[in-house]
Amino acid sequence: MQQTIAPPTSTRPRPQPPRTNPMPPEGEGGFSQSWFPVALSTDLAEGQVLGVPFLDGKIVVFRKEGGVPQAMSAYCPHIGADLSVGRVVGHRVQCAFHHWEYDGEGVCVKTGIGDPPPKAACLFVFPTQERFGIIWVFNGEEPLFELPSLPYPDAELASGAYRMGEPLRCDPWVFAANTPDMQHLKVVHKIRFDADDPHELVRWHPHGMEFSYTGVHQGDVPIANTAGILGTSVFYRWGMYNGYWRCNVTGFSLPRPGQHEVFSCSLVRAGPDAQAQLADVLGISRRTVGEDKDILNTIHYRQGLLTKADTTLARFLRYLRSYPRAHPSGPFIN
Ligand code: FES
Ligand SMILES: [Fe+2]
Repeated sequence: MQQTIAPPTSTRPRPQPPRTNPMPPEGEGGFSQSWFPVALSTDLAEGQVLGVPFLDGKIVVFRKEGGVPQAMSAYCPHIGADLSVGRVVGHRVQCAFHHWEYDGEGVCVKTGIGDPPPKAACLFVFPTQERFGIIWVFNGEEPLFELPSLPYPDAELASGAYRMGEPLRCDPWVFAANTPDMQHLKVVHKIRFDADDPHELVRWHPHGMEFSYTGVHQGDVPIANTAGILGTSVFYRWGMYNGYWRCNVTGFSLPRPGQHEVFSCSLVRAGPDAQAQLADVLGISRRTVGEDKDILNTIHYRQGLLTKADTTLARFLRYLRSYPRAHPSGPFIN
């Protein structure tokens, strides 16, 4: 007799293919118009030309007059030599191949042989600034926002800047999306908020978000912080941690799509115990990145099945989707 197979009686929900609403990767429609760290201040000596991968191309950074850093496209408009193997002469970059020289505005002002430089012999010049012990470069012709200004003047602060180890295998915005991800703040980093879910505390602006909260970190450390994201690649947090004022300003670089490196500056109030405080902040920062690392290195980020606890994250993902992208330096840095 033939055996009949009973239909399944389980009420367990059947898995559905994921509702894939992929987040646009960097490089699609250009790159985020944001400030990106490219080097520590200490990486760039006066007289040095530093070559740095950026936006899937290459830039050079050097210190022009007064020691002010300037980032420009790396490839010489003559016949394409890489200026990072050139040298600084006076306050100009000299190409190694035929000794054309570019001033701080990226304009060729001299050729090695004495021919007048062609008028169009100009490099792409990026808005560049040195702040928090880090050299930052903006993807665009004009910056859309400023780096955070802190509640204390620099003279009252002690600081230390560092790179956070190996590059991570995801776009910078993926790390930036950790800040509005309240579920992860609770379960990965063990933050207990005094407010149940602090979504209503978030202040949004055209180039980022910020919220202030009180609570407890890692079980017993009282915290009262303001944290925010600027653009898609700058994170900051400051406030009281275990009775001390502390701050981190962190940037996520963008050498190429799907990869970034974390640059961070810790700041504390100047004073006799500042160095011990800085060492402690560095330890906490390393532990925090360590908590995120495996997740960030393997995630296939998509907007999937979000819950009420993801209210702020959902809005941040919308913000990311509409965040301006461009790639005006593309023809120069490739
Ligand atoms: S390629 Fe740079 S001067 Fe000729
Ligand atoms: Fe995190």
